[in-house]
Amino acid sequence: MLISLTGTPGTGKTSISNILHENGFEIVDINKVAAGEDFFIGNDEKRNSKIVDVDKLNGYIKENYKEKDIVFIEGHLSHLLKSVDKVIVLRCHPDELRKRLSQKGWKKEKIKENIEAEILDIILCETVDSHPEKNVIEIDTTDMNIIDVAALIMEIIKNKFEHMKKHNIGNIDWSEEILKDF
Ligand SMILES: Nc1ncnc2c1ncn2[C@@H]1O[C@H](COP(=O)(O)OP(=O)(O)OP(=O)(O)O)[C@@H](O)[C@H]1O
Ligand SMILES: [Mg+2]
Repeated sequence: MLISLTGTPGTGKTSISNILHENGFEIVDINKVAAGEDFFIGNDEKRNSKIVDVDKLNGYIKENYKEKDIVFIEGHLSHLLKSVDKVIVLRCHPDELRKRLSQKGWKKEKIKENIEAEILDIILCETVDSHPEKNVIEIDTTDMNIIDVAALIMEIIKNKFEHMKKHNIGNIDWSEEILKDF
């Protein structure tokens, strides 16, 4: 089973993946795969980054990992891969996200862009465009430490993604935060 671990930058994908790895789970960092295999189709001049060829990435992940038991596919584009069976969208309140991205040393403009993306549910919207709602869950990481989030994910897997009403999509709403800009 392929499980996408996605979310706005700073929601904790890599930190949580590291804990899951320590607990014996296989993790694939799709940014590393894209760079290693040179799966790029151009440059995003505005963001000074490369544009990933999602179809090629999807083919690669499917071919190399689809038959395995449980593999986490980590990265803020992982939900765009059609071959993933489940998607876990990590969420974070904008105030806390600002702190986490500042800690990472990110520039003000880049922090603002990502906070806006989190408020507008961009990753969740992209996810439900590609996957049925029953295969998607959200976890609010705002008041949880990374060990607790990883433990929750392991519990969810143990329960085969069932009985997780709290994590059904649509419970998280940061929309009031957008007014704070005015
Ligand atoms: N649940 C959490 N509680 C407190 N701090 C956290 C939590 N999750 C992540 N952090 C901190 O926030 C920062 C960003 O986390 P991390 O790099 O894991 O995010 P990411 O989702 O992988 O981001 P990116 O998309 O940029 O790779 C790190 O400094 C990390 O220690
Ligand atoms: Mg990361």
